[in-house]
Amino acid sequence: MSERLVELVLPAGHTLAVRVVGSGRPVMLVHGFPLDSGIWRKQFEPLVERGFAVFAPDLRGFGSSSPIDRPCSLGDLAEDLFHVRNTLVEDRPMSLVGLSMGGYVAFEYWKRHGETLERLVLADTKPSIDTDDARRGRLAMAEAALQTTTWEAVAPMLPRLLSSRTLERDQETTQWLKAMMSRVPAKTIATMQQAMAQRHDFTGELSSIRVPTLVVAGEHDAISPPEENRQWAAQIRGAVLEIVPDAGHLPQVENSEGFNRALLDFLAS
Ligand code: MLT
Repeated sequence: MSERLVELVLPAGHTLAVRVVGSGRPVMLVHGFPLDSGIWRKQFEPLVERGFAVFAPDLRGFGSSSPIDRPCSLGDLAEDLFHVRNTLVEDRPMSLVGLSMGGYVAFEYWKRHGETLERLVLADTKPSIDTDDARRGRLAMAEAALQTTTWEAVAPMLPRLLSSRTLERDQETTQWLKAMMSRVPAKTIATMQQAMAQRHDFTGELSSIRVPTLVVAGEHDAISPPEENRQWAAQIRGAVLEIVPDAGHLPQVENSEGFNRALLDFLAS
């Protein structure tokens, strides 16, 4: 399996790095916050083996993509993905998998360019907006990142991203995740928290989704709990719901076998 890192210069001038691997039916994997495309490392091989071409971008400001130099919205990030699709996937129907913040961006993509989608996977995410408290917390984290370091600002998220089981028993994954979180530039933390604080509410639009959809979440997800997933997934016509055992907010690394089974059963059906 040979992976390429493709760098695309977008019309607005910034560069997006996209990991590309495999050939076949296109699937785009969109990471969450404060992460990068490396969060999908355990999905690449199983997807390629099942005949998929995988496109995993680093969203603007993350990973190997260029630093952020101006405010942006989650809609802007969806337009970045559309550019990646137009350049690398072209007119083939594409499946879109969004994890958490990547799921918020996937909702935006669906709204703008849903006709290009073959399937939609909403992983550990939600269609709703923040409570006032959550919004205040985001803006405080944005401020903290700019005034201290990324790690000091994002450290309180760690026990919400991973289940207590992963934190206690899987030091390798925990340390790997900490390193990934720490690498995100402080400016990106601040800009994306502001973007998420202002995101659009898709709750009232779920019944308009016509793309075959999988809603998947970790059994112990503290950020988008299974019960909430159950409630909103029921509003999407025909949506499949999968709860991955022994995982928190990041089932693709905490229980990759369980997550991959759910993902592949859905994408390959
Ligand atoms: C994520 O994993 O992308 C974040 O937890 C999303 C959020 O902060 O709402």
